Amino acid sequence: MQTTQVYAVNREQANCLEVRATELPAPPAGHARVRVEAAGVSYGDLLFQRGVIPGGPKPPFVPGCDIVGVVESVGDGVTTLRPGDRVAALVVSGGYTTGITLPAERLVPVPEGVDPAAVAAVALNYFIAYQMLHRVAKVRSGQRILVHGASGGVGLAFLQLAEHIGGVTVFGTASAANLDVVRRHGAIAIDYNNQDFANVVRATVDPAGEINAATAYDEYGTVDAAFDPIGGPHFWRSYSVLRKGGGRLVAYGQSEALRGGKRNMAIGALGFLGGIILPNLKPDGRRTGFYNAWALEKKQPQAYREDLAQVLDLLSADKIAPRSTTTLPLTEATEAFAQLERGVTGKLVLTSTE
Ligand SMILES: NC(=O)c1ccc[n+]([C@@H]2O[C@H](COP(=O)([O-])OP(=O)(O)OC[C@H]3O[C@@H](n4cnc5c(N)ncnc54)[C@H](OP(=O)(O)O)[C@@H]3O)[C@@H](O)[C@H]2O)c1
Repeated sequence: MQTTQVYAVNREQANCLEVRATELPAPPAGHARVRVEAAGVSYGDLLFQRGVIPGGPKPPFVPGCDIVGVVESVGDGVTTLRPGDRVAALVVSGGYTTGITLPAERLVPVPEGVDPAAVAAVALNYFIAYQMLHRVAKVRSGQRILVHGASGGVGLAFLQLAEHIGGVTVFGTASAANLDVVRRHGAIAIDYNNQDFANVVRATVDPAGEINAATAYDEYGTVDAAFDPIGGPHFWRSYSVLRKGGGRLVAYGQSEALRGGKRNMAIGALGFLGGIILPNLKPDGRRTGFYNAWALEKKQPQAYREDLAQVLDLLSADKIAPRSTTTLPLTEATEAFAQLERGVTGKLVLTSTE
C-alpha cells in the first residue's frame, strides 16, 4: 500500500515538515493496516516537533496522536477486525499519514454513522480529559475543580465531561474574548490576564458562580482537583488552591515552555521540580502528578479501549462536541502548524483524499 506521510524533519520553526511517499508492507500477525481518513492536530504535536517535551520523538518522525480510518487488511490471527471496519486509535506519533499499521488491540470500533473528521476532532482531547477526570482525579458530584485553558480543546472537553458528571463546580480560566464560552458550559469564568485565579478560587463562592459572602459556600476557598497544561510557576499556583487532605494537581502540559515560538526548557524543569516533585514531600494530603496516557495504560491496560470507546459513544450520542472543527488536506500540515503557532480557536483536523 502506497502512503503519503508528513515528517517533522528538524526542530526549527520554519521548513520543519516534509511530505514523503512510503510503501506500507502487509500487516504482520496481530496487526491491521488502516487507510487513514482523518488525523487530529494538537498543540502537543508542535511541542514534540520543537523538542520541548522530554522523552518525545526525535526528527525525523511523523507527528499526530490520533487517527480514524478504515481497516484495509489484517494480519494472521486477527479475528476482531475485518477489512471495511471503521476504527480509531491513539498513537504517540505517526498520525499524519494516509496509511498506518497498528496492533489490532489498539484499534477501537467507531460507531455507525459518525463522521471521521468529528472522531479525529474529539479523540485525543476528550480521551485525555476523560482519563484525568475519571481515572486520575476521580472527580464526583459535589466537588470543585479548576480547569485552565477552559475554552481550548482539552479545556472544553473537561467542561463538557464535568457537565455529564453533574453537580461539579468548575472554575475555568480563559482570556476575556473566551469567557462566554466557559460560562455557557456552566463554569465560573476567570479572565487569566486580568484576574488572579487563586484569589477568585479563594474568595467565597456559591455554586451559581456569584462571589457572595452571604452564601458562604466554601470558607476554605479550595478545589478538589486542578488541571493545568500551562507549566512553570503556574503549577505552584494551581497547587496553592488545592484542598488539604485530598486535593490533587493534575499537570498535563507545558505551554509556558514554548511562548511566541521560543523554547524555554528551564521553565519546564522548574515547573516539574517546584510544582510536582517538591509538593509531594509535604505530608498534608495534597497530591501532584503529571498525567501521561501511556504511563496510565501500563498500570491499567484495559483503560485505553474502555475510555476511547466511551468517548466515541458520547460523540455518537451528540453529548460532546468541540467548539469548531477546521479540516485541511494532509498535505497542508505546514499551514496547520502555522495556525497552531498563531493560536487557533477550535480543533484542526487533517484529512486524506487517497
Ligand atoms: N499530556 C497529554 O497527553 C496531552 C495531550 C494533548 C494535549 N496536551 C497539552 O494540553 C495543552 C492544551 O492543548 P489544547 O489542544 O487544548 O490547546 P488549545 O486548544 O490551543 O487551548 C489552549 C488554551 O490555553 C489557554 N491559555 C493560554 N495561556 C493561558 C494561561 N496563562 N492561563 C490559562 N489559559 C491559558 C488559551 O486560552 P485563550 O485562547 O482564551 O487565551 C487556549 O484556549 C497543551 O499544552 C498540550 O500540549 C497534553
